[in-house]
Amino acid sequence: MLRHEVVVVGAGLAGQRAALAAIEAGRDVALLTKLHPLRSHSGAAQGGINAAVGAEDSVDTHIFDTVKGSDYLGDQDAIEFFCREAGPTVVEMEHFGTIFSRGPDGSLARRPFGGAHFPRTIYAADRTGLALLQALWERLGGEHLTLYEEWDLLRLIVRDGRVQGVVAFDRRRGTFEEIAAKAVVLATGPAGRIYARTTNAHSCTGDGIALAYEAGAALKDMEFVQFHPTALLESGILITEGARGEGGLLKNASGDRFMATYAPHVLELASRDVVSRAIVTEIGAGRGFSGPYGGYVHLELMHLGREKIESRLQEICDFARHFAGIDPVTQPIPVYPAQHYMMGGIGTDAKGATNVRGLYAAGEAACVSIHGANRLGGNSLLETLVFGKQAGLAAAAYADTAAAPEMHASDLDDATGPLRAWSAKPDGEDPSALRAEMQATMEQYVGIYRDEAGLLEGIRRIRALRARFGNVRVVDRSQVYNLNLTDALETGHMLELAEAIVVGAYARTESRGAHARTDFPKRDDAQWMRHTLASRGPEGPVLSYAPVGYTRWDPTERVY
Ligand code: FUM
Repeated sequence: MLRHEVVVVGAGLAGQRAALAAIEAGRDVALLTKLHPLRSHSGAAQGGINAAVGAEDSVDTHIFDTVKGSDYLGDQDAIEFFCREAGPTVVEMEHFGTIFSRGPDGSLARRPFGGAHFPRTIYAADRTGLALLQALWERLGGEHLTLYEEWDLLRLIVRDGRVQGVVAFDRRRGTFEEIAAKAVVLATGPAGRIYARTTNAHSCTGDGIALAYEAGAALKDMEFVQFHPTALLESGILITEGARGEGGLLKNASGDRFMATYAPHVLELASRDVVSRAIVTEIGAGRGFSGPYGGYVHLELMHLGREKIESRLQEICDFARHFAGIDPVTQPIPVYPAQHYMMGGIGTDAKGATNVRGLYAAGEAACVSIHGANRLGGNSLLETLVFGKQAGLAAAAYADTAAAPEMHASDLDDATGPLRAWSAKPDGEDPSALRAEMQATMEQYVGIYRDEAGLLEGIRRIRALRARFGNVRVVDRSQVYNLNLTDALETGHMLELAEAIVVGAYARTESRGAHARTDFPKRDDAQWMRHTLASRGPEGPVLSYAPVGYTRWDPTERVY
């Protein structure tokens, strides 16, 4: 059996930052990841990282924008901490070697992003996540770290109310492994692949969130799912909000800048929930374009000129040219909203602690909550670094005094028994077929607009898929790189989370941020200014509610 003091699962920005903090605190740390760290989904974040560093801007304005963007569901105490950490975090990453874009005077370049009063989003062209990831990985490379690469987390071992370690699957050797650990930090990213149209990488299957849920951690605010307004038609590849920040325009089939109707003050730079709803409304009213991949609108950059487009939006140019056959210098980009981010996740405090002793979470897998019902662009990269560090520090402090973990002889068999049964079956359900049905169901019934009838149908279908998953079969019997087995594991995780999302969405009879109920179109602060907590029960999610952290900002109507 392997042993470490702290095991960090997930090697994106949050996981790497947690690992660095725990190592610097003197702990023996292992980083377990199903991908090479530089392939992590953090690298897909394009547009930038928020910090109020400009003379006209202030930390207080960043706090207010984030509170308002969250539709008053974000915890204001956590948001205050988060925004105060922004400047030092960006400076630290710069010192680690991140090559940020610069203004003519050499200062950090900033671009406007949705829902922000001032240009606050610091960037490295349109590859900001990748630039941060590379710098942090190089920084971590100088430390003593054990890396378990291309390993899947299979189970968290929780006994006597505390984490004792994990069971994992080494994809390359096809072996099951136990790792005893005093503390575990989950930084496993989102579960966007629950949806058919998503900007998320194929690896974003919510494994850590589902396994925390199985281990007794409460999931928070799962019903709040963000749709990014501009995904490239057909492929769903992200077209950064930075494109609108640089001056890109959204137009319908009549050539109208339709955002004037929905957000008269800031137009294309309203928050994402507002812009996504506007696009869907335009398409629904017959004012969009239509084609074999469904309705869409145009994102126009042509007026910005070749030099600006190709220098600040290099990756967008490549994506549009290669994946849509469109040259953004001379042609509009066809876009539609696609699932992009989960505001919900494993419930934590601002130190990353969950309700399970020794279990911490950070990044998109976690919900502190700073994003509430809707996240602002540019706050996600910041979240990974700020709360990754906090979770690493808290896990290290806990592990310093915690008793030695106790793994039992039966832990490995208990965790791997179901997997062996899947492979032993003569017939059964194909996991990829179940996955496709889940994605279609979530897209149709739990998308941008929701209502009671659709959500009830969503619950019925997801529960039927979960029942069928009980008979899942893995056809591939090979030990090495058994992606059929990985597919089954991930599909099971996503079905658990899909159920938590749809049940939470059905229960929340109001509209707030990204949760838009056509049958309850208004925000209802009297009843619903509270977080949803989902715990795993024998019949599915058991919901309870928790108050929102409040400091200074009274809820008002949210207008852009
Ligand atoms: O549009 C973007 O570049 C995405 C950024 C984010 O989600 O924070």
